Amino acid sequence: SKLEMFVDELLDMPQILGFDSVYGVPRSKSLEIGMYSKTWKFHRDLPPTPVYAYGVSKEAASIPGPTIMALHGIYTNVTWKNYLPPKHILPWDTTITIAEPADKIGIPTVVHLHGSIGEPESDGNPKSWFTAGFKEKGPAWTKETYSYNNNQQPGNLWYHDHAMGLTRVNLLAGLVGAYHINHPKLEAPLGLPSGAEFDHTLIVFDRSFRTDGSIYMNSTGDNPSIHPHWRPEYFGDAIIVNGKAWPRMTVRRRMYRFRIINASNARFFRFFFTNGLGFIHVGSDSAYLDEAVTTNEFLLGPSEIADVVVDFSKSKNDSAILANDAPYPYPTGDPVDEENGTVMKFIILTHPENDMGRTPSKLIQYPGPNFSSVTQTRYITMYEYESATGNPTHLYLNGISFESPITETPKVGATEVWNVINLTEDNHPLHIHLGLFVAFDQTALVNETEFKNCMMKMNDAIKCQISKHAIGKSIEVPAEEKGWKNVFKMRPGFVTKILVKFSYIHSNESYPFDATAKPGYVYHCHIQNQPRNPFVERNLIKYEPS
Ligand code: C2O
Repeated sequence: SKLEMFVDELLDMPQILGFDSVYGVPRSKSLEIGMYSKTWKFHRDLPPTPVYAYGVSKEAASIPGPTIMALHGIYTNVTWKNYLPPKHILPWDTTITIAEPADKIGIPTVVHLHGSIGEPESDGNPKSWFTAGFKEKGPAWTKETYSYNNNQQPGNLWYHDHAMGLTRVNLLAGLVGAYHINHPKLEAPLGLPSGAEFDHTLIVFDRSFRTDGSIYMNSTGDNPSIHPHWRPEYFGDAIIVNGKAWPRMTVRRRMYRFRIINASNARFFRFFFTNGLGFIHVGSDSAYLDEAVTTNEFLLGPSEIADVVVDFSKSKNDSAILANDAPYPYPTGDPVDEENGTVMKFIILTHPENDMGRTPSKLIQYPGPNFSSVTQTRYITMYEYESATGNPTHLYLNGISFESPITETPKVGATEVWNVINLTEDNHPLHIHLGLFVAFDQTALVNETEFKNCMMKMNDAIKCQISKHAIGKSIEVPAEEKGWKNVFKMRPGFVTKILVKFSYIHSNESYPFDATAKPGYVYHCHIQNQPRNPFVERNLIKYEPS
């Protein structure tokens, strides 16, 4: 039986201030946020769903969790507390490397603040996991209270579970939430639509449910003789926005700001409005764009964030459906159907408004990429290995597993060029912790099979003559993705050139930062069924002092 669309109102998640003020002077704040086992109503007609949710208390815990409102330059300390039960609601696959408590009791979790530029001890390394009451701890565990300096440009971050091999099930169970770094001095003059009425965060993901309300995950692996439960990707039929399936929202005839986070495990969204309304992009991932960019559709991979303004005064109709037409897996998978091709509905009031709101064309200027400061050029290759039956058994970056010694050791403040070669069939959203990067063009590989065969033997892009293969058509980066990002979609069969600035912000700021501290940072593909297991993730980045 199908669920009726647009019956639940869009929910705004509870907000928590990440700072205190004393006589109007802001100062740092310490929060306690728990992970609770509870039930959640995803839809009017669906029985309550057992979930894991972040919140300041079990009653307050929500899917997604509360939105943390931090202030630029003011520390937010968070003690993330695990109150989860001994056994998970979703199956684990122990044939992949997962966080596993010694007594096999308890659910390992660790929180990563995605997009944060901060100390490694608070970065949520996959092996820094812990179970309820900090009873059992992973080999890279650091401390109970994480500390976020918020000393980076204003923008949109999100927090999510990051435990080794369990990220996929912990996210599916509900462990996601938004985090904004606000900088009133820089942002207020922009005059973008603001306040609770006109500025909304939309966390979007896909889920399937059983008729009893529980989350459905196909738990038979693609290649069950090797991995009984592991599937490299998860796709759900229902599209959930802020914890409700296909919600509706009534809006006035004016501009609204939406900070859209794709928190799906594997689904890409190509968003568009069925009535032709456009989007004015003001930010991408955690940073503002230099200038506003107008589009009629845009592609958002898992973990990417688009910060857009929508002007409903331009609508000729009294409603607009936000829709999606990205095939899954992207780009060569199945076409969407009505269910997973529909996101939410806006009901537009007919009454014209006096103040429609505004979006300046110039936003916030950051120093641009500087090629003359590049100290290293690296080749990062994405490989997919298959069984005899053609099912993926594992995916690696540069042919080496997460467990191997670190190979990328940029210096603090260094600028590097990475050429990311995607030899798989799928588009992979590559996420680099701590480093912001700018993507340049994407160039198609010619004679890809020859190159691939050579790489499978030699695993050396230079020896396999990458320069003779990276000569195909070149595709420009979409205008709305030309700024500093922390995720970029690596097109299959292409080489993507990115310029990464490691600890971009740190170079001009002075606050305690120990670049050599353990456990270091990771980079990985953000298709959540791959990372945090030996597949497609490299524990790569360990910083060396400059
Ligand atoms: Cu959003 Cu390492 O992750």
